[in-house]
Amino acid sequence: MHARYGGVVPELAARAHLDAIAPTVDQALQALPRGWDDVDAMAVTRGPGLIGSLLVGTSYAQAAALARGLPLVAVSHLAGHVYSAMLADASLQPPYLALVVSGGHTDCVVLRDHGEAVALAATRDDAVGEAFDKVARMLGLAYPGGPAVQRAAERGDARRFPLPRTRLEDSFSFSGLKTAVRYVVRDLGAAQLDERGAPRDAQVVADLAAAFQSAAVDQLVSGLEQALERSGAERIAVVGGVAANSALRDAVRERFAGLRVVIPPLAYCTDNAAMIAMAGWHRLQRGGPDAPGFEVDPGLAEFA
Ligand code: KG4
Ligand code: ZN
Repeated sequence: MHARYGGVVPELAARAHLDAIAPTVDQALQALPRGWDDVDAMAVTRGPGLIGSLLVGTSYAQAAALARGLPLVAVSHLAGHVYSAMLADASLQPPYLALVVSGGHTDCVVLRDHGEAVALAATRDDAVGEAFDKVARMLGLAYPGGPAVQRAAERGDARRFPLPRTRLEDSFSFSGLKTAVRYVVRDLGAAQLDERGAPRDAQVVADLAAAFQSAAVDQLVSGLEQALERSGAERIAVVGGVAANSALRDAVRERFAGLRVVIPPLAYCTDNAAMIAMAGWHRLQRGGPDAPGFEVDPGLAEFA
């Protein structure tokens, strides 16, 4: 639905949520032998995200919790990503260092304890997932861009187009890298570009995708190195949609081979409801349910 626009259209997303939410929940309940009777509590995303979609989710969850007499907890989407590591490895406990890499975030946080996260490095401009999506667009690849760039990069030579790496003390920046790709494309000259402005030559696309992915992975790994030094953490989790990237998974495993590294399976990297349930369950143990009528928060920046 969003692919033809090259990005998420908020109004379409909200309407699609409205259509999809009841059948989605019904389908999930079919996996339980006794349906609703097997559910002890509900968790729902309060933010960050698009307000229309958040309102659909929280309204539905509040109504369902009320109707079923279930406790309801409101969860930060980012806490969901941080807790997704515990879905992958049930024995993982805080403290651990999490690199959160998604469409809206590139952050390093330490989950010191349940409910207690300390940010070490934050997103300065474009998030890494956003950079993948924008570069995919420049290269004429499909949306969402991450998987498309990864596939193209597999056939590419990362050394053909040297790209800069931005290293900052306490934040991640990907807009310089994105702009560098834009200049390489522009400098190919109009004859080399198609009507969308993307390179015609599939090998150029593959080589640029590989160069971008390699620079992005280098930046993430060196940011993680710095955060690790400052935090003294002994366990690392890499979470969020970009953690599905095989080059990043391999690079982190190789660079931190001596440490315990948890990277969830792909289904728990990209957005999913299981991670919200995991974060919500811990929140429920700690603070009990949220009072009915809580507000959504599109700009929420809470990691636990
Ligand atoms: O966590 P997520 O599913 O949604 C947000 O919370 O934003 O992350 C989505 C982002 C998108 O930018 C998408 O392009 C990126 O994750 N992504 C990838 C891969 N799969 C998804 N980026 C690089 N490589 C991938 N294989
Ligand atoms: Zn996400």
